[in-house]
Amino acid sequence: MTNLKNKSVLVTGAAGCIGAWTVKKLTEQGAKPIVFDLTDNRSRLALVMDDAAKVVWEIGDITDYERLCGVIEKHNVSAIIHLAALQVPFCKADPITSVKVNVVGTTHIFEAARKFGIKRLTYASSIASPAMGDNDFLATLYGAHKVCGEQMAAVYWQDWQVPSLCIRPGVIYGPGRDQGMSAAPTMAILAALFEQSYTIPFSGPVAFVHVEDAANRFIAAVSKDIKDALVFDMQGTEADIADVLTDIKHQIEGADIHMAGSPLPFPHAPDDGALDTLLGVAPYRSMRDGIAQTLDIFRKARDRHVLTPELALSLIGKNA
Ligand SMILES: NC(=O)c1ccc[n+]([C@@H]2O[C@H](COP(=O)([O-])OP(=O)(O)OC[C@H]3O[C@@H](n4cnc5c(N)ncnc54)[C@H](O)[C@@H]3O)[C@@H](O)[C@H]2O)c1
Repeated sequence: MTNLKNKSVLVTGAAGCIGAWTVKKLTEQGAKPIVFDLTDNRSRLALVMDDAAKVVWEIGDITDYERLCGVIEKHNVSAIIHLAALQVPFCKADPITSVKVNVVGTTHIFEAARKFGIKRLTYASSIASPAMGDNDFLATLYGAHKVCGEQMAAVYWQDWQVPSLCIRPGVIYGPGRDQGMSAAPTMAILAALFEQSYTIPFSGPVAFVHVEDAANRFIAAVSKDIKDALVFDMQGTEADIADVLTDIKHQIEGADIHMAGSPLPFPHAPDDGALDTLLGVAPYRSMRDGIAQTLDIFRKARDRHVLTPELALSLIGKNA
């Protein structure tokens, strides 16, 4: 593993859920995270870290290659964690824009890595990618974009020896997860805390990954020399929605939370451990611990007036 201390690490989509945690953890390790995002909204970072205002922040659109290269050059970036993307519902709502962000944007990342000789590159695919195969899972434009990214990565290694490590997360949960089709379990935790009624619109088993466990793995991925275009599933802790509801109710008495509908149409399985063996990271936390830690951070953010009842209700409403 290479120490990232004082190294500039570009994090695209860092205003998002996994990005906020990645920035927090990089900062704690003494690295210099450079946020690259469309928005200057620091609310997810403020939820999970104290000094969000101090983070180096470059507003930029991943579809703008010149802007991306300018930021990489300006900060002498030595590693890239590429997270910027539009999720399943946003791709369905706007197929053309989503191809620009998810496919062209990912091409820009690989082109920039080639141009600047950046050898530390990790990027997020998804379990929606293997769902695109010959199986009963849901095919989505989002999944098609992620497959394309993985296949382009293989060609960038083959033709130009640009190494990369792709991580396919399962369902991310925890503080900051507030959009996309699988944000509901986190919203149930938030709703229980703010005494709101909430129904998760799916049931059954899910490959859950606590967002901090995900961030730790993306960071470990750029801390290591890779000589290939590697692709790994990140399935985390498999749990059934019914058990997750029981756990939340156990931790918040009187929680008025429910589930309805069919299982989520994406792959789920116990994590195969291959990514963790390569990276040498600590094991995934249990769901019970993940729920408890999520509640703890929500409570602290509420006490700091970062997570106001108005914000909580608007996030719950957006995902109802
Ligand atoms: N959340 C999950 O359960 C999950 C599961 C599997 C894979 N992933 C993947 O992990 C990555 C991060 O997910 P997340 O949950 O943190 O997402 P998120 O939706 O919370 O954040 C995405 C961020 O990307 C930014 N962004 C969007 N378009 C952009 C553009 N054109 N230029 C620059 N920034 C742009 C958004 O402003 C946002 O801050 C994504 O690639 C996602 O597809 C997420």
